[in-house]
Amino acid sequence: MYEQISHSLLNDILTQCKQPKGEDWQHFYTRLGANFYAIHSLFQHLYGQREDFKAQLGRLVTVLTQQYAQRAAHLRAKDLEREKNHDWFMQQKWVGMAMYCQGFAGNLANMREKLPYLQELGINLVHILPICDCPEQQNDGGYAVRDFRQIDARNGSMADLEQLIAAMQQSDMLLTLDVVVNHTSDEHAWAKQAKLGDQQYQDYYYMYPDRTIPDMFEAAMPEVFPENAPGSFTLNPDTGKWVMTVFNQYQWDLNYSNPAVLIEMVDIILFWANKGVDILRLDAVAFLWKKIGSSCQNEREAHLILQLLKDCCQVTAPGVIFIAEAIVAPIEIIKYFGEDAINAKECEIAYNATFMALLWDAVATKQTVLLTRGVEDLPEKLDRATWLNYVRCHDDIGLGFSDRAIIAAGFEPVSHRRFLVDYYTGHYPESNARGFAFGVNKKTGDARISGALASLAGLESALANQDQAAIDNAVLTIVLLHNLIMSFGGIPLLYYGDAVGTLNNDSYLQDENKMHDNRWVHRPTLDWEVLALKNEAGTVQQRLFSRIKQLIAIRKEISAFADLNNRELIALDNPHLFAFYRYVQTGMHPKVVVIANFDTAAQSAPLQAFRQKGLFKTPVLTELYSGQTLPTDKDSIEIPPLTAYWLST
Ligand code: GLC
Repeated sequence: MYEQISHSLLNDILTQCKQPKGEDWQHFYTRLGANFYAIHSLFQHLYGQREDFKAQLGRLVTVLTQQYAQRAAHLRAKDLEREKNHDWFMQQKWVGMAMYCQGFAGNLANMREKLPYLQELGINLVHILPICDCPEQQNDGGYAVRDFRQIDARNGSMADLEQLIAAMQQSDMLLTLDVVVNHTSDEHAWAKQAKLGDQQYQDYYYMYPDRTIPDMFEAAMPEVFPENAPGSFTLNPDTGKWVMTVFNQYQWDLNYSNPAVLIEMVDIILFWANKGVDILRLDAVAFLWKKIGSSCQNEREAHLILQLLKDCCQVTAPGVIFIAEAIVAPIEIIKYFGEDAINAKECEIAYNATFMALLWDAVATKQTVLLTRGVEDLPEKLDRATWLNYVRCHDDIGLGFSDRAIIAAGFEPVSHRRFLVDYYTGHYPESNARGFAFGVNKKTGDARISGALASLAGLESALANQDQAAIDNAVLTIVLLHNLIMSFGGIPLLYYGDAVGTLNNDSYLQDENKMHDNRWVHRPTLDWEVLALKNEAGTVQQRLFSRIKQLIAIRKEISAFADLNNRELIALDNPHLFAFYRYVQTGMHPKVVVIANFDTAAQSAPLQAFRQKGLFKTPVLTELYSGQTLPTDKDSIEIPPLTAYWLST
């Protein structure tokens, strides 16, 4: 948008900073012109009261300019390509996997050798969990960054990463890396300066001389790690000041009310964009703005910060998109795409934590009442934005569905959540799950769940008991869950080890830095000899790998699986089934009906419900996974236990 004040300001800034000229810069200036009104307005809103406002804004534009000057020709070309094909990330061809590079391959150099494994499975989007330099011990799995521009030596070198990126680009694979925007390690250079008493860097954080303000903040702030890191402030002995540490005590929260912090972060984001990273996962974005008297999560200013980061990234590196890691209430998650918009104006992708938790509810209850309710309640996403659908990730499983949905499904929220924790920790009589309670908050009674997907799905106990029927059910459950993230709408994100049924690993208990954080039970170091069993007929590894591989291959062929707000739920009069159909708005593409049975007994789906939606008009249906054909002249079709059908119609 053109607006006089911002336009004349931009002219002043560009005159002062001797803007580069030449044909190469045309695209940069077009984008800067297009986004500057928004950048200026947001910056004004957040920092307009400061005397140095104009100088800070000038500094921001300089960063955008300098980073564009550094942007390689092939990445600029990719930006242009992606501008033309702007829905590129919403196609059904993308299937992702998240992993720790050390746990998956040992280091970045070995990652390159493991690309064929990922390609065999059909993975073409790789999220490598944090790889930046972090302290030897207190590092929260890499989420306590000491240097945002260095690779941690345990992962290898920048050259290793560059070679990996080049290899991935040749194979049309996307790379996702984290930018830990909310906090730094207390060993980061900024924190070190702050500890030395340097006011400039103390202003990068929230530091207070006594408990007055911390107490005011803490009165309304929920604890993120109540067992290991209670409270949200830590006394720093060097300065005698209290520092805000929402996560662990060694993770210092950055203070975005200081524009210098925002500008540093823009520079860091563009640094990684210029390395050739396709997608940046912005960590813990719900926490970016702190306000006394609030929970310090999901504040409006946190969204404004994200909009600024997006607008800035679009000027310099528009081919790069963001994932919002905001594991918050369903109604809040959706806002991280941006409100009142068509295209995402914050992050293009967000974790669908609600769907993930609902899937686990369906597994435990063998019923789909809450799943259906919860999905019905999910607000429609923006047109140019997509979900990351996952079953498991490196974090705990929070039971983040709304109380309203739980009540509507006929349960009582407190006892239902307690049931789920009991179920997944194996404390419920019929449960064969082998998980652990995480983040137990004695004050509120809240708890989340840790544990490998396969162990939560019953495979660990089934193998220990050599119970073939239970093994079969666990295999079916794991495939069923993958089936749904593949077909629901969004980018499926597998977790390393899950495609071969990797179980809990308790070796973390030997490490004093990890022993108090049971999320490490599901952060395995893969044993590639066990993985090789995927090639041996009849093994659990082979059964899982081959089926998941096939699901991925089919997904990629089905246009209706692209995520274009093209899903409709189908209400079935059977509490064990969950059904929806996917369609393509234009052209003659077949629709696909997905019917999932979470029960351990076969269930019948009445065909009438589908006919009412104008579906199943053809005399036979094809089940895409098995190739089996099913007649439509009956009253119902039978869905086998723990199975989802993909019916093309
Ligand atoms: C994110 C990460 C999690 C980490 C936290 C603090 O939620 O996914 O692993 O502990 O941020 O950085």
